[in-house]
Amino acid sequence: MSHVKPVRRTNVADIRNRKNGEPIVCLTAYTSMMTEILDPYVDLILVGDSVGTVLHGHDSTIPVTLDEMIFHARSVKRASPTSLLVVDLPFGSYEASPQQAYETASRVLKETGADTVKLEGGVTQAASIRFLAERGVPVMAHIGLRPQAVRATGGYRIVGKTEEETANLIADADAVTEAGAFCVVLEGVIESLAREITDRISIPTIGIGASPACDGQILVTEDMLGYFDRTAKFVRRFANLRETIDQAVSAYADDVRGRRFPGESETYVKPAGEKSNVTRINRS
Ligand code: KIV
Repeated sequence: MSHVKPVRRTNVADIRNRKNGEPIVCLTAYTSMMTEILDPYVDLILVGDSVGTVLHGHDSTIPVTLDEMIFHARSVKRASPTSLLVVDLPFGSYEASPQQAYETASRVLKETGADTVKLEGGVTQAASIRFLAERGVPVMAHIGLRPQAVRATGGYRIVGKTEEETANLIADADAVTEAGAFCVVLEGVIESLAREITDRISIPTIGIGASPACDGQILVTEDMLGYFDRTAKFVRRFANLRETIDQAVSAYADDVRGRRFPGESETYVKPAGEKSNVTRINRS
């Protein structure tokens, strides 16, 4: 399907206005290189704290620091002319109080040029979301499966299988909406509950493992590009880059070992008759 993106940067009002409208397309990015490729196709880019597991080899998002988030967000911002840029507040940088959340969020916006922040939590973070929203910091909320809470919840579990979980998640969705979040990520939520919440609240829901019922979808880019052997059930691999890279690196190693690389066309030679000892290198 062809989609015409506005030439200006997408803003939070554009996202809010897509409630019950054209699905909102979101992906994660941590580097300029990836952002340059994604930006023309997506509405929103999240610099997720998933950077900890995807790029830095951690087994959860807990160790990710605020300085690391800022470092990656600056790289993404340089290459993103049109998408709404959201940056995750990492574990330990906002939960203590609305004041702490504001200080962290304002540092992120000032130092990265990002448009908004995301934080995990529903009822428990509603006061902070309100505090930020009232002071001009747009907030994307994140409820359901909360990766920063896996130490407390006992792992990456789908939400909505019991009546208690259902009631709690509805309360979370209502709380973040009333507090002024401009949209909410629903992660790992069963379809009937994702549908009920999407129908119930006035802000867009962005699903990850939360069914097609949501107003938009997000995936970790490296998951959908097929960088990992194992991924969650909800990930569709749109490419198999791990295999492509594996084949390329294996061919390179074979060619270096077999002295087939570099070849003649990849080698600088002194042109016949040139006096200078310097051969110009054209990097373009
Ligand atoms: O950190 C992240 O990438 C996220 C998305 C998966 C929603 O929070």
